[in-house]
Amino acid sequence: MIVAANWKMNPALDQASILATALASQSFPQIKRILFVPHPYLVPMSVRLTGAALEIGGQDCHFADHGAFTGDVSAAMLRDCGASLVLLGHSERRAAHGETSDIVAQKIKAAMAQNLDVMLCVGETKAERDDKKAEQVVIDQLQASIPEHAPPTGLMIAYEPVWAIGTGAVASPDDIAAMHHVIASVLAERYGANHVPPILYGGSVNADNAASLFSIPLVGGALVGGASLDADAFAAICTAAQDAA
Ligand code: 13P
Repeated sequence: MIVAANWKMNPALDQASILATALASQSFPQIKRILFVPHPYLVPMSVRLTGAALEIGGQDCHFADHGAFTGDVSAAMLRDCGASLVLLGHSERRAAHGETSDIVAQKIKAAMAQNLDVMLCVGETKAERDDKKAEQVVIDQLQASIPEHAPPTGLMIAYEPVWAIGTGAVASPDDIAAMHHVIASVLAERYGANHVPPILYGGSVNADNAASLFSIPLVGGALVGGASLDADAFAAICTAAQDAA
């Protein structure tokens, strides 16, 4: 079981330090906890969380090693600032920064070349689900975003229906189970049934719904946005994951 926090562009640094200190004092030995923090926080959070059982990651990286890319950061820069992994292909980046699956694939290659683990996000929009295209959209995103020779080691998938992000609307257990089955099948075809990377669910996960989400077949954890900014709520989600582990 993996519980990952995506802080997105939150919170202020003083609040982030308080949150990180609270998370470091909590212990969940049976699960993996990950924090995807804003890039400027990688160093201060790495320092604050030294020795704590939490992995720290960036929320994006460029596919190039270096160059004239104002405002971007490379995978090596993330690693050098304390990240052991990176979140790639989040729908907010696909939508607001025009990231295609081809670009995401290049980023995954760059991240893996720097020995960063990768959490790849996939998920359909409301219109795509209403059009009954959700599964095909996710299959296409997986096929195009995972580079041809990328190993399964260090790869994690987060299924995040776009319409469930930050809305309080969680996908139904049946829809989540069906989509995780589809994702697992695509990955099993590529890597073999025994090497399917963990598949997390994301989208309005909170302290109240986490336990039922973790009871759905093939749900290997959660990628949590809003609720991850509250130490108690995040702890409750981690407790639910640990109970399900
Ligand atoms: P919420 O948990 O706020 O819905 O965000 C989900 C998400 O986008 C995590 O990456």
